Amino acid sequence: MIEIKNVSKSYNGTIKAVDDLNIIIPDGEIVGFLGPNGAGKTTTIKMVTGITKPDSGSITINGINVADNALEAKRQFGFVPDSPDMFLRLKGLEYLNFMSDIYDVDGDTRKQRIRELAERFDMESVLTDQIQSYSHGMRQKIVIMGVLVHSPSVWILDEPMTGLDPRSSFLLKEMMREHADSGKTVFFSTHVLEVAEKLCDKVAIINKGKLQFYGTMDEMREHFMTDDSLEKIFLEMTENE
Ligand SMILES: Nc1ncnc2c1ncn2[C@@H]1O[C@H](COP(=O)(O)OP(=O)(O)O)[C@@H](O)[C@H]1O
Ligand SMILES: [Mg+2]
Repeated sequence: MIEIKNVSKSYNGTIKAVDDLNIIIPDGEIVGFLGPNGAGKTTTIKMVTGITKPDSGSITINGINVADNALEAKRQFGFVPDSPDMFLRLKGLEYLNFMSDIYDVDGDTRKQRIRELAERFDMESVLTDQIQSYSHGMRQKIVIMGVLVHSPSVWILDEPMTGLDPRSSFLLKEMMREHADSGKTVFFSTHVLEVAEKLCDKVAIINKGKLQFYGTMDEMREHFMTDDSLEKIFLEMTENE
């Protein structure tokens, strides 16, 4: 579970990138975080993951306060950032072992998980190559595998489907569903509305730092009293005045 309470953040003291945001992401559900470019999705995710600090408000992950107990909070989640271009000099396998070391995954468990993940994501033949030789989609996959190898209870993913081939994208969605169905937490951002519409139990829509709507698809249709697609509602909600 992730609790975001009255969180605000501005970058240069004037415009608020995130403005008094309140979202509770419960266990057992996939929550999609939607909004146009510049809406504040990445800023929010960076605050949840402790990469940047909010100006005000508080965030807890599985009840642990991100500001007060950073290390313990970080143990709760796995994070897929919007750009997978990191640790480029490491080989894929070195990166997965590095992630396993950080999160104390024992030798037998990591071996088995790495084997399974490499097979599922079709990465077996490239694990001994440096990440810098990987395509964007392969880099994205190795980052996702680095999260799954330590099996965190909370998954936080910033635009995870970007650059993934259809098969991997399908696989990731399937795994997100399994993870939520096992009673754990999935929070991901996307601007691909069809993905959100099909995959999410709830959607949080943000525009200009402010939460526009948070609830199920049915609640959203009820709220707006329409049978319109999410796309139409979304476009109306995030229209520039
Ligand atoms: N490091 C930064 N410095 C200054 N402004 C930033 C920075 N990162 C993001 N912003 C601004 O904050 C707002 C929200 O950006 P962001 O959180 O990246 O949105 P999204 O992920 O929804 O596209 C935008 O107006 C963006 O220009
Ligand atoms: Mg972003």
